[in-house]
Amino acid sequence: MSLLQCAKLGKRFSGLQAVDSIDLSIEKGEIVGLIGPNGAGKTTFVNLLTGELPVTSGTITYQGQDITRMPQDKRNRLGLARTFQVPRPFHSMTILENVTLAALFGRAGRPHDRRSAVRKAAEILERTGLYGNAGASTTTLTTAGLKRLEVARALATEPDILFLDEPLGGLNQSEAADALKLIRSLNEAGVTILFIEHIIKAVSAVSHRIVVIARGQKLAEGTPSAVLSNEEVKRAYLGNISSALERNAQRRKQTNAAVAGGQTDV
Ligand SMILES: Nc1ncnc2c1ncn2[C@@H]1O[C@H](COP(=O)(O)OP(=O)(O)O)[C@@H](O)[C@H]1O
Ligand SMILES: [Mg+2]
Repeated sequence: MSLLQCAKLGKRFSGLQAVDSIDLSIEKGEIVGLIGPNGAGKTTFVNLLTGELPVTSGTITYQGQDITRMPQDKRNRLGLARTFQVPRPFHSMTILENVTLAALFGRAGRPHDRRSAVRKAAEILERTGLYGNAGASTTTLTTAGLKRLEVARALATEPDILFLDEPLGGLNQSEAADALKLIRSLNEAGVTILFIEHIIKAVSAVSHRIVVIARGQKLAEGTPSAVLSNEEVKRAYLGNISSALERNAQRRKQTNAAVAGGQTDV
């Protein structure tokens, strides 16, 4: 049985079919890379799987259980967690407090057991390379630090499957390499991962499988080498690689500006 499965999943925004009848199965232990041009529907697709948005059509099954209409917090307690494209920490709290809060409300959380939540949060900060900043305000973090904090908060809920929306967005090359290392180590510790990313080289380096979405539809899926040599994929995506790279640089600037301004979506 697959860990997570969706069938004919669809999302319509008034006139726009943002996600169009996508079938996908994710097996326990996989790292799946989700790629596709800007506006392809990647974030919307993840929003449907995590319960951020209600589906228009189709079904989602998690460990054999139909979760299509299950609220997001309940999915979180079942073992699904996600990070956002633009980090969403509580800026009024310290880094440790942000992660502690997530631990208290996650699947293993017991609202009155604050001490063990703090202990768990400290452990996670260690794992995500943020321990040295535990007592600092989130406003002291760089983009890379904020992205790590997103991962730390998600991890505090003890996920079986983690959805990462552009975890490398806005990072420089060495920060991106560190982020990929973190993704790999989480996977080695048993977390199944679906991550959205623009940088093909990065996706290919860590993913067991790549899924390509274009205009809301699944265009291809398979091993990185099979997918990247697929002619249809090349036409829809790789053919535009130079403009995609340009857009990526542009997005990096926008993400940095949005993070600095506390904006929650770009
Ligand atoms: N809340 C929304 N309301 C209306 N349209 C939306 C909403 N969210 C996304 N869209 C549209 O759906 C399409 C897919 O967006 P998105 O999932 O963000 O793409 P991606 O993450 O692949 O860049 C885009 O055309 C976008 O403008
Ligand atoms: Mg997106």
